[in-house]
Amino acid sequence: MKPAVLICRAVFPDIIDRLREHFEVETNEADVVWTQPELIAHLQGKAGVFITGTQPIDTALLADCPELRAVCSMAVGYNNIDVPACTARGVLVSNAPDVLTETTADFGFALMMAAARRITESEHFLRSGAWTKWTVNAFAGADVHGATLGVLGMGRIGQAIARRGALGFGMPVLYHNRSRLDAATEAALGARWVDKETLLRDSDHLVIVVPYSAASHHLVGAAEIALMKTSATLTNIARGGIVDDAALARALREHRIAAAGLDVFEGEPAVHPELLTLPNVVLTPHIASASLPTRRAMANLAVDNLLAALGVGPQKGKPPTALNPGVLA
Ligand code: GLV
Repeated sequence: MKPAVLICRAVFPDIIDRLREHFEVETNEADVVWTQPELIAHLQGKAGVFITGTQPIDTALLADCPELRAVCSMAVGYNNIDVPACTARGVLVSNAPDVLTETTADFGFALMMAAARRITESEHFLRSGAWTKWTVNAFAGADVHGATLGVLGMGRIGQAIARRGALGFGMPVLYHNRSRLDAATEAALGARWVDKETLLRDSDHLVIVVPYSAASHHLVGAAEIALMKTSATLTNIARGGIVDDAALARALREHRIAAAGLDVFEGEPAVHPELLTLPNVVLTPHIASASLPTRRAMANLAVDNLLAALGVGPQKGKPPTALNPGVLA
């Protein structure tokens, strides 16, 4: 009998077909967001699971799903997965890095530009019928070219954003990261490491790209925002919870910074109600990686990992982006 796998959310039909060649596949074509007990019920008898960045895979779930051998996510961020607990139970975990880097950087840059140049705010004005004449200072925002770009977190996506800023827009780039890049990479990106305070104080446009963990919870709160220039923008494309959304909403309302661009939110899909009322914030529903080719590439990478982890396909036994490959050794 073929092993059974579960796909937790609705995906592209050919993704399901790739898995059906080798496995009994249970799908969720209605795209229901299962509760944890529902997820555990659907996982019974499954050797592998295809997840996204939102299903929590924790100790309690693992204890209730003893047949599970592989958890393959189509997201790059894996703060929803307790990787050490999976490793302790011999469960292979994979994420989906690299394939979304450039698409996500494009979007981060777009969101930063939209905040700086007041694009959604001015579009709402036009659509509302309020535009009756050209005005010299209407929606006059901040320049992006030549302004100082601050990157908080300098992994793959942070570096792709830095490249766009330095090479495309002539921006001096500052960054802060726990580990500093080597000198050659810094030089190629035109990026300078600074401490977090300097980054906050000196950036005209701050883009946040750190992974979420207990250590990065509220990494940017009221005290950090207070260090920023009143003319600055803040863009978060990383994870909800890294920015204290209540503190950010207060700062935006009081014009202590100029504008923000947010693709991720604490407690999403709920959004802090005050953010919804503010004109100086651009809000998008966690879509930074959502170009069609990239979402397809992410899903295909999760399938490559699932096939390999469960011992089939050309990469069998060697999932290409495993986070704990040692469990298969
Ligand atoms: C999206 O947020 C991801 O982690 O892939």
